[in-house]
Amino acid sequence: MNKEIANFDYYNPTRIVFGKDRIKELSTLVPTDKKVLVLYGGGSVERFGTLAKVREALSGHTFGEFGGIEANPTYETLIKAVKLVKAEGFDYLLAVGGGSVIDGTKFIAAAALFDEEPIHIFGSGIGKGIPITKALPFGTVLTLPATGSEMNSGGVVSIVAKKAKLGFGSAVTFPQFSILEPELTYTLPKRQLANGVIDSFVHIMEQYMTYPVGAMVQDRFAEGLLETLIEIGPDVVDESNHDYNLRANFMWTATYALNGTLNKGVPGDWASHGLGHEITALYHIDHARTLAIVLPSLLEVRKEQKYGKLLQYAERVWHITEGTDDEKVQTAIDKTRAFFESLGAPTHFSDYELGEEVVDALVSQLESHGLTAISERGDQTLEVSREIYKNAL
Ligand code: NZQ
Ligand code: ZN
Repeated sequence: MNKEIANFDYYNPTRIVFGKDRIKELSTLVPTDKKVLVLYGGGSVERFGTLAKVREALSGHTFGEFGGIEANPTYETLIKAVKLVKAEGFDYLLAVGGGSVIDGTKFIAAAALFDEEPIHIFGSGIGKGIPITKALPFGTVLTLPATGSEMNSGGVVSIVAKKAKLGFGSAVTFPQFSILEPELTYTLPKRQLANGVIDSFVHIMEQYMTYPVGAMVQDRFAEGLLETLIEIGPDVVDESNHDYNLRANFMWTATYALNGTLNKGVPGDWASHGLGHEITALYHIDHARTLAIVLPSLLEVRKEQKYGKLLQYAERVWHITEGTDDEKVQTAIDKTRAFFESLGAPTHFSDYELGEEVVDALVSQLESHGLTAISERGDQTLEVSREIYKNAL
């Protein structure tokens, strides 16, 4: 097991345009010689006036629109946009929405220039997993802080016909720019605000809660972001609290949680996401809510393997000073579960009226997608994953 900080490259080309009243700058951020396709979701951006601002800012551009990208965007819908892009010759994309619209846009950007059938962008037994080497340029206007997709190069797409939810990514699928206006979060309902806090929290944990390699910068960054979420989380989920700094801190934390800063040179886990995506694929539970079910259970089952970091987390993030090391570790896990519950996200399958039958179904999904040796050491076998699902019943 490597105990040193591994070699790394740090590259992030996304320009962040943060603050109040920034959408109007689309007029100069998007090149005027491009034919732009504006992509959005189920209509929230129309309802709350964001799309009107985008149209106004792009009034000097040639642009079209494609709406209807679902939460947990589907391959089936995205392929329709790919056909439109090719048929009409769009050469610049603009995502206006949350992680689903941004991920969908990344996929469309890559699929539009892909030499093979776009299904081969995915691996995991569904496609050939051919690397993405080119993509259309695109920018984003973020409306939901949660995924970090606005400043990273990855995406996740649901392939309905295959009951699969799979990731993809490449160095050419970073957004050119992302507009982050904290005031756009004022229309989010409590459930989405809670989802955002939990998804960001678990992103940080996936990159931090492994084993120590002495990466002081990465660790302290992660701990600071976790403490920020613990501090502001209860106020963030109060949908009537429109304090600007509260929402600005939330938005930037969510972006930083997964913009490729925390994972540099350190091991990563990502097993909670692996197990969670299968829950969404089969039972359509919101992404963040699947993580609230999996992570506390995973920490309990994997306590021994993660002991060093769990103790560090207990002491530095939750400031637990009393008791034996074992007690500190257990208290930290209990506090993590209680934090998710306090935000309104249940942490057991039974809260969704799902019972023992899910365990076999989910484990067989993991097997068919090749998730048989996951986590920071590759030692999370199907049997361990089974135990984690069972422990979350
Ligand atoms: O579709 P519309 O009508 O726009 O409504 C959306 C959607 O129903 C609504 N919403 C968005 N902004 C709003 C708003 N409602 C009111 N006011 C606003 N300002 O919120 C709902 C959820 O939106 P969605 O984009 O699905 O949420 P989120 O940002 O949480 O994205 C989830 C997707 O991102 C993937 C997840 O798997 C999931 O598919 N992830 C992407 C990652 C990445 N690219 O790095 C990493 C993550 O771990 C995650 O897997
Ligand atoms: Zn996530």
